[in-house]
Amino acid sequence: MSKQNRTKLFLDISTFVGFLIVMDPRASGLAVHEWLAVALVGALIVHLLLNWNWIAELTKRIFTKGLNGSRTNYILNWLLFIDGILIMLSGVMISEAVIPAFGLTLPVNMTWRGLHDISANLSLILMGLHLTLHWNWIVSTTKRLFGRNEAERPVTALAIEGKEVQA
Ligand code: HEM
Repeated sequence: MSKQNRTKLFLDISTFVGFLIVMDPRASGLAVHEWLAVALVGALIVHLLLNWNWIAELTKRIFTKGLNGSRTNYILNWLLFIDGILIMLSGVMISEAVIPAFGLTLPVNMTWRGLHDISANLSLILMGLHLTLHWNWIVSTTKRLFGRNEAERPVTALAIEGKEVQA
């Protein structure tokens, strides 16, 4: 398995575990919730950079005919990204740990609290779909990491009209 795929898999699994912890602030405590969520932004940026080929290629070819599966995937990824921005923005606006740590206070507005709840709940659905659409890559990369299916052709790419792009 390529070093990059191994890095991707470890990063993605750690990010997903971090996401699950962040989804339950009552279990983790609010300070852990907020600081871990901020750290996840860094992980997300690396995740996007490691998958940049796929993003750039799809962006160029999004209006090409016959891209149906990849197009759905692409649109879903954008929704997840926009939802992530809403979660982070609303989270910062209701922050009780990170923002006060910088000596700042923001006006209390319950709309942000509602937006945080809705966007966080929506992210569960979008994340579930995101994982479903990448399930083949997750399973095949995990198997190869543990030495199974070594002889098989690596499933590391999403085919776009016969052309393969690293996923
Ligand atoms: C991946 C990012 C994040 C996710 C998935 C997430 C998710 C959640 C969830 C599920 C809740 C519980 C809602 C409820 O009790 O009904 C919550 C509450 C909260 N979150 Fe986040 N959050 C994220 C980022 C942030 C950030 C960056 C901050 C602040 C810097 C933040 C601050 C808060 C606060 C203050 C609460 C209210 C806790 C309470 O009143 O019990 N969150 N978040």
